[in-house]
Amino acid sequence: MTARERLALALDVPDRAAAMALVERFASDFGVMKVGLELFTAEGPALVRDIVAAGNRVFLDIKLHDIPNTVEQAARRAGELGVWLLTLHTQGGPDMLAAGARGLREGAASARRGAAAEGSGAGGAGPNADAPIALGVTVLTSDADAPPEVLKERALLAQRAGCGGLVCAAPDLPAVSAAAPGLLRVVPGIRPAGAAQADQRRVATPAAAIAAGADVLVIGRAVTAAPDPDAAAAAIVAEVTAELGAS
Ligand code: C5P
Repeated sequence: MTARERLALALDVPDRAAAMALVERFASDFGVMKVGLELFTAEGPALVRDIVAAGNRVFLDIKLHDIPNTVEQAARRAGELGVWLLTLHTQGGPDMLAAGARGLREGAASARRGAAAEGSGAGGAGPNADAPIALGVTVLTSDADAPPEVLKERALLAQRAGCGGLVCAAPDLPAVSAAAPGLLRVVPGIRPAGAAQADQRRVATPAAAIAAGADVLVIGRAVTAAPDPDAAAAAIVAEVTAELGAS
């Protein structure tokens, strides 16, 4: 994976205009655009569809946690939208995680069949052709006191339930990689040296996270709230590229 493919930009903004401005400005550096609770609540699936249609991989970070049937149907709708990554909360348990992973897979497959039948090609090319991946959220990176046993348990739970990846903090990478190898490891709480920590408690620099085994880095305020966002993004790309070259 290239540096760009490993970088997800958190679109933590209140509306479509602000989100699309970030997508256009940073799509050359960030291969994944993350739509979280704030933006999804404000703009809903139409915006997700538009970001996908513009050729971006989308990470829908809405941390689903409900009864299995509800999560399955919500995940199915996410799959139909063409998202690449979708978060499910591991606290929801094995049945809920399995239902979510299944719904996501089936939703994407049905959208592809529909697009093929229409001959539109939508959902069958570019980033939309990737099989979607359900990510189990282990422990929030703002939580400083998560015990290590919980982390391993949740990583294993996600793997057994059919999730293709995990969200974890950088310091947790060795433990989750050992407990559940082979999953895509998505890591928020990334702070370049000197950047403000804000509400994140378990942080790492981009290079340290890659060195510890992160596959995809989620980056928000370190770019969007930087005094010079373009320079901050360029520095992160350079740091990740150098680390990939070194490893
Ligand atoms: O601005 P910052 O880089 O801290 O943003 C991190 C992003 O990653 C936010 O959108 C947050 O919701 C998300 N996230 C997180 N911790 C998790 C899962 C997602 O911080 N465990």
